[in-house]
Amino acid sequence: MHNGEATPRYQFFDLKPALPDMAAEVLHGLTKPAKSIPPKYFYDAEGSRLFDVITGLPDYYLTRTETSILRENAGSIADRVGQGACLVEYGSGSSTKSRLVIEACQPAAYVPVDISRNHLEQSAKTILGGYPELAVYPTCADYTAPFELPPPVAALPRLAFFPGSSIGNFEPSAAGDFLRGVTQVVGPAGWLVLGVDTKKDPEVLDRAYTDAGGVTERFNKNLLRNVNSAVGADFDPSGFRHLAVYNDQAGRIEMYLVSDRDQRVHVAGTEIRFAKGERLHTENSYKYGPDEFIGLADESGFDCIDILSDDRAYFMVLLLRAR
Ligand code: AVI
Repeated sequence: MHNGEATPRYQFFDLKPALPDMAAEVLHGLTKPAKSIPPKYFYDAEGSRLFDVITGLPDYYLTRTETSILRENAGSIADRVGQGACLVEYGSGSSTKSRLVIEACQPAAYVPVDISRNHLEQSAKTILGGYPELAVYPTCADYTAPFELPPPVAALPRLAFFPGSSIGNFEPSAAGDFLRGVTQVVGPAGWLVLGVDTKKDPEVLDRAYTDAGGVTERFNKNLLRNVNSAVGADFDPSGFRHLAVYNDQAGRIEMYLVSDRDQRVHVAGTEIRFAKGERLHTENSYKYGPDEFIGLADESGFDCIDILSDDRAYFMVLLLRAR
């Protein structure tokens, strides 16, 4: 960050990511023999709000467990990574987890990366206000593919951070492609701190995705409301019920909306028929054993330097280093 001129401590970098054609993607999924809608469409304003509520639910152990792993181990991560790096957060982040890493690792710059401009700007400014020494360069980009880091951080060592087990929402082959993309962003010897949910008693998993208070059900059905308003559709969310099942063979939670009756829905001018009992697939959430994930990371160009976990091994935070 020594470019001769004063570099502003805050700058927004807009890489102008191409926005997906939501109507086309939704219709594509709804006209396949096994109907589906991509899970990225959960996150309109109401979906993001409901997901925030989910992260605080007693049944949804993931966030709580990951946060406590980070709280206990941030110091040991910092010992290995060192201070003064550029912290690149994939997603604009839960500020609690970001703060734990920022406070332990004392990065010189923080680069949150997200496709949603508003959310990104808001959360970047919150971090900016809390750390007077930290340069903050929010970058609007689609992080599922490699992207350029802002010029002021070009010379800094890199630490990527992707918490929350969001990698579990990728198919394993896409997770491998994603990790290879991260190696390009952090460069050789760059770091990645990655949250990954583990395989465990299916009853624990089932409860996490069908919570007692029905918040996950509302989150799931909100997808239909989002499709209604964003692409012009007439889904009746009360005509579907929430279903989350653990598929042991595939090692994933599968989430569906199940049609309560025979019904016709109009989506962007196309009629879609649902039979009573027919499933609409809305999300996969993969769970990994430690060795299984380390194998995937290894094939994708990362060495595993440390596995941090909790007493029950419900969640793991991996410290990976690019070759
Ligand atoms: C964002 N992602 C990691 C969550 C998960 O657990 O797969 C999304 C979620 N779906 C239902 N509950 C939470």
